[in-house]
Amino acid sequence: MEKTLLKRGYFANDAAFDWLYPQKIRELSKRHWTPLAIAEQAADFLADAPGKKILDIGSGVGKFCIAAAHFQPQATFYGVEQRYKLHQYAQAAKDVAQISNAEFVHENITRLDLSSYDNFYFYNSFFENLDDNDRIDEEVAYSTNLYIQYCRHLYRSLERKPAGTRLVTFHSMQDEVPPSFQATYVSDDLQLKMWIKR
Ligand SMILES: C[S@@+](CC[C@H](N)C(=O)[O-])C[C@H]1O[C@@H](n2cnc3c(N)ncnc32)[C@H](O)[C@@H]1O
Repeated sequence: MEKTLLKRGYFANDAAFDWLYPQKIRELSKRHWTPLAIAEQAADFLADAPGKKILDIGSGVGKFCIAAAHFQPQATFYGVEQRYKLHQYAQAAKDVAQISNAEFVHENITRLDLSSYDNFYFYNSFFENLDDNDRIDEEVAYSTNLYIQYCRHLYRSLERKPAGTRLVTFHSMQDEVPPSFQATYVSDDLQLKMWIKR
């Protein structure tokens, strides 16, 4: 009983969720990790049928995947993250929150085969290559060329997906979104967009 209440507590609001992480990770939350309300909205759209496999491209400390997995227990949320330390925080947080339908992979997106996943979430992960003020740490290399390379890779991978594939972008400049994806929802502030491939 106490464990169930504790688990529900993490999903009550963003501040409560952030207690899954140490202070240095909590301090990055507002700028780098998806707010719970956005995760819930995106998860509702992406989990369009039971058993769907949804990939978060650049999963950080796992906030999107863990929250989405809580809100949509019949789907499985996968996260791919290039930074090993963030990947470890995601694994630890998933265990503490007792989430069984989220999985994390430590890898660069360019080395992952996207054909295994049905739908996708993308929170402007490659922007850190363009903006000196947007950097989480110095664990990885940054460059404009990497931004272009990552966007091209994702664009081409999304182009190969079948009609009906769903994508949610948050704060994206859309360099990674092929024209075959049609926006079906745009939030008033233009930051949250939901797409379906024609
Ligand atoms: C803005 S954070 C979003 C984290 C998570 N999706 C969320 O919403 O809570 C973007 C993450 O993408 C990761 N990332 C950036 N480029 C990547 C790449 N090429 N492959 C894998 N991860 C990448 C960064 O390390 C960072 O943790």
